[in-house]
Amino acid sequence: MEVIKAAILGFGTVGEGVYEAIQTHQQQLQNILGVEVQIAGVLIQDLEKERNIADEVLVTTNFEDILNIPDLQVVFEAIVGEDPSYSYLSQAIDKRCDIVTANKVMFATYGEKLIKKAQTQNVKIGYEATVAGGVPIIRTLAQQLQVNKVGRIQAILNGTSNFILTEMRNKELSFENALGIAQELGYAEADPTNDIGGFDAFYKLMILSSLTFGEQPDWDEVKIEGISALSNDQLEEANQNNFRYKHVAELIKEGDNISASVSPVLTDADHPLYNVEGVDNAVVIEANLAGTLTIQGPGAGKKPTASAMIEDFVHIIQSKKTSYALS
Ligand SMILES: NC(=O)c1ccc[n+]([C@@H]2O[C@H](COP(=O)([O-])OP(=O)(O)OC[C@H]3O[C@@H](n4cnc5c(N)ncnc54)[C@H](OP(=O)(O)O)[C@@H]3O)[C@@H](O)[C@H]2O)c1
Repeated sequence: MEVIKAAILGFGTVGEGVYEAIQTHQQQLQNILGVEVQIAGVLIQDLEKERNIADEVLVTTNFEDILNIPDLQVVFEAIVGEDPSYSYLSQAIDKRCDIVTANKVMFATYGEKLIKKAQTQNVKIGYEATVAGGVPIIRTLAQQLQVNKVGRIQAILNGTSNFILTEMRNKELSFENALGIAQELGYAEADPTNDIGGFDAFYKLMILSSLTFGEQPDWDEVKIEGISALSNDQLEEANQNNFRYKHVAELIKEGDNISASVSPVLTDADHPLYNVEGVDNAVVIEANLAGTLTIQGPGAGKKPTASAMIEDFVHIIQSKKTSYALS
């Protein structure tokens, strides 16, 4: 049976999730693709950490070793931040590898460049995992709404801030206590600034803007407001009036103008985001033919994120066989 060789950059929550999903779904992959998928290399930073990786897999801190794997076809990227991810993925594309990434911070900035570069090298990029984890929003926009004109997107794109607002309202917890629980449960980072400050949602929103409108608004003009200034009194007052605060990332296209914001928004019971609770993410798309669509699900975590990446991988391999373009 034909073998597809892949490498994983980063072996934290997401990288390990991809590795495990490929091991546990090898039979499904073989049934769908008619190939064996082999993880040939894993790039990490710290060689001393204990990892559950088979002996035959090359584990290295040197990206050159990954690039030198003979017949490497696919690179899964799950490291953190812009650098060196962008440089690694550029080099992988130059080597004619297909890419699947989860790295939203990098992709918000360099996604458009990488997609162009991939087109020149005739390789594909999957980036479903960069926005809303396991929720298939990228493919929905890219493939199911190609003819539709999308005028507005409203979304909950950060599970941590949604969880905190839900806990504060339901259990009357202070912001600090709700954040502490989110950290204990592994939803929030030790440094939660990106989540509660709205920056994580902002990066994802910029990726959605590039995909939906072919461009991003000027980053300096995007209002980004976190949730930490919301008081229990405000949440309670809203609740008594049948409103809920949601941390909403919004994109609107009017004429040639794109406006974007991330901020706490009061939603009423008829709003599609009103009942999106806990760590769930949701995206509401207003499309001229389809109408208003809402897609909801787990926005992060090992398995949902690995699901998005492995599905991207399958589509890429299938697209090579059918000329079905993903990027
Ligand atoms: N966690 C989620 O639910 C989720 C969901 C969607 C998207 N993402 C995105 O996915 C990416 C990975 O997230 P994560 O939660 O898996 O992070 P993580 O648990 O912190 O793991 C990061 C991994 O990357 C490795 N790494 C970091 N910098 C590196 C470098 N310069 N060279 C080589 N390896 C490097 C680390 O190596 P060591 O193990 O040696 O330290 C670690 O294995 C991020 O971009 C994140 O935004 C995460």
